[in-house]
Amino acid sequence: RKERLHVWNENMSSKDLSFFLQIIKKHFYRTNKYKVSFQGKIGQKLSSKEIMCQLKNRVSMNTIKTHELPKSASHWGTYLPLDSLLETVGQLGRCAVVSSAGSLLSSGLGKEIDSHDAVIRFNAAPTKGFEADVGSKTTFRLMNSQVVTKKEHNFLKNPMYRTGTIIMWDPSIYKGNLSQWLMRPDFKFYDHYIEYRKMNPDQPFYILDPLNLWQIWDIIQENSPEQIHPDPPSSGTLGIILLMNLCDQISVYEFLPSKRKTNKCYYFKSHFDPACSFGGFHPLMYEKNLIKKINQGKDTDIYHHGRVTLHGFNRTEC
Ligand code: C5P
Repeated sequence: RKERLHVWNENMSSKDLSFFLQIIKKHFYRTNKYKVSFQGKIGQKLSSKEIMCQLKNRVSMNTIKTHELPKSASHWGTYLPLDSLLETVGQLGRCAVVSSAGSLLSSGLGKEIDSHDAVIRFNAAPTKGFEADVGSKTTFRLMNSQVVTKKEHNFLKNPMYRTGTIIMWDPSIYKGNLSQWLMRPDFKFYDHYIEYRKMNPDQPFYILDPLNLWQIWDIIQENSPEQIHPDPPSSGTLGIILLMNLCDQISVYEFLPSKRKTNKCYYFKSHFDPACSFGGFHPLMYEKNLIKKINQGKDTDIYHHGRVTLHGFNRTEC
């Protein structure tokens, strides 16, 4: 008889969260910083294909172009690219998403990750010193505005950031337009954005239209059995959906934890925190439930390698 592998259970709900993470969720729910007022239907049970089609048809993954910004933002908006990321990058073949999870340590996945045509990494995740486990190729780096803005991340000086195409995100209020967003960004990233662009004019650096975050959030909420955290999805999920727009096939590493699962937050830092894997601020558990539902790979791939296999939208007929 085959033993059942303990891999991510896509039907998890808040009762599966630790008491502390439930309290945190309630806190963010009460705060409702982004003024979420969801009008759709919670608890839908869509098939894998239906979820893929929702993601393909309802999420645009636009990046902001210079001419789309209101005049009030022209002091930094002129540094934005003229075209969008999707217009500029052609169709790619096999792509890899490298989560920053502690369970990547001792995985030996580096060669496999580097064998992909393109690799996306997140925020301050390094490759130097971790090549055997996370690879060394960086084609895209998806970053939140906090890492771009806050001094301690040393965004302007750390040479790590100068490889690959940068894509930054910063949330607006729920379904807010660009003007509403510009009045109240989460972090005032403009000065660093201008300075970075002046110093590295040849490195592509896009900013996601914040509307994308809520388009994705809606789909996660609809496919969850209860109300989820009223905060934007994590960088990991944004990166996965971005690559589904660009690549034929996507391998995602240690987003759904393997047998190496750990509360160690990052492979490159020493602290332990279950919120990193299950979500404190982000509705991360529900994001992972959704990704598990559209996984085309086997449970044994998740168990041994933390690997999820997804089809690109070009291979998804709706
Ligand atoms: O924390 P940060 O957003 O920089 O991490 C990158 C992404 O990796 C997260 O957005 C999340 O999707 C994923 N992650 C994870 N489990 C962890 C740490 C990060 O799934 N323990």
